[in-house]
Amino acid sequence: MMTNLPEPGSEALALSHHLQTEVRRIIAESGGWIPFSLYMESALYAHGLGYYTAGSHKLGAAGDFVTAPEMTPLFGAALAVQVAELLPQTAGTVYEFGAGSGRLAVDVLRELERMDALPACYAIIDLSPDLIERQRATLTKELPHLLNRVEWLSTLPDRMDGIILGNEVLDAMPCELVHWTPAPMLRGVAVDDNGFVWQDRPIADPALLERANALDIESDDYLSEINLNNLAFIHTLAGRLTRGAILLLDYGFPQSEYYHRQRSMGTLIGHYRHHTVDDPFYMPGLMDLTSHVDFTAVAQAGIDAGLDLIGYTTQAQLLINCGITDILQRLDPNDIRVWAPQAGAVQKLLSPAEMGELFKAIGFGKGVSIEWKGFLNGDRCHTL
Ligand SMILES: C[S@@+](CC[C@H](N)C(=O)[O-])C[C@H]1O[C@@H](n2cnc3c(N)ncnc32)[C@H](O)[C@@H]1O
Repeated sequence: MMTNLPEPGSEALALSHHLQTEVRRIIAESGGWIPFSLYMESALYAHGLGYYTAGSHKLGAAGDFVTAPEMTPLFGAALAVQVAELLPQTAGTVYEFGAGSGRLAVDVLRELERMDALPACYAIIDLSPDLIERQRATLTKELPHLLNRVEWLSTLPDRMDGIILGNEVLDAMPCELVHWTPAPMLRGVAVDDNGFVWQDRPIADPALLERANALDIESDDYLSEINLNNLAFIHTLAGRLTRGAILLLDYGFPQSEYYHRQRSMGTLIGHYRHHTVDDPFYMPGLMDLTSHVDFTAVAQAGIDAGLDLIGYTTQAQLLINCGITDILQRLDPNDIRVWAPQAGAVQKLLSPAEMGELFKAIGFGKGVSIEWKGFLNGDRCHTL
């Protein structure tokens, strides 16, 4: 047990033990070893047991982490400016992946309504049954008159014509762990008397091996992630998007920074009650697991799948381009109780020392032709 971390209740502990038993069973059935991606998938999404598929509170002050939409409605209002610009060129649906508590949906819809630019439909796709319940509750409470435009999709539509949004979704997809020795090895999970342990094996998947070799890492002890699920996701979206745009925001870097020689321990991290935890085996099912996004790989996956790469920039730049500071000015600075927390949150979203630089935005288009406001200044595609 780690010290200084809040103790889970007995029910939560029982859930975690149940999940650990399930992961042990999967490992045993797989011959004593599973790749890390399968461990992460189980820890986050195992039916009724995973972090996103059981009862963990997850987002917000009472949960494990806070995301931009949880901090201020101005984040969603700024994104709505970009959505409003693109939406008329499509059949008019917004698709939000991984909608969390439903805050972003509320804020985007509210701003679109203010601009008289409501989408015909706001479709939400999420893997988390309890977050879907939270989204329904949030939208029912905050925008009951718009509920008829909101729908939850249990499967991905074959054809999508509209704007796809995702905030902090790519980082929640299970990644592979690769250990360069310097030959790349696949880091996986086995079991010994003390619990889960690391074990490296040769990489069997030729596509993964090719990617790992192409990164040209020379160290004889370098650990990092390769996220094939991110690439498959982009590929699937590209295949189903008949017309429209994709806007994804997340923390991450271009490849030169991601696989920098000094980042020799990778970016995988756990979030538990607002603490970061280095050990991914800590309390499976009760702790969020996440890795940063390799935006070079994501951009290339989109281009390979036939999308137009429209822009890549920092979260701060995108929000400024979309006018977040003007939106803030709509509030009365004399009303200090309202203004101060919103100004503080915007400062946090924009500050390079906080979320402004680490978080990035990437935009793809298909059959839409406008200059996107969000990427007009400070585009960084050349760094990918
Ligand atoms: C870190 S949370 C972010 C929530 C929200 N977007 C926010 O910013 O507050 C990650 C979300 O992505 C969802 N998710 C992960 N993989 C997904 C996928 N392939 N399709 C749809 N949702 C996914 C999770 O269920 C979860 O709701």
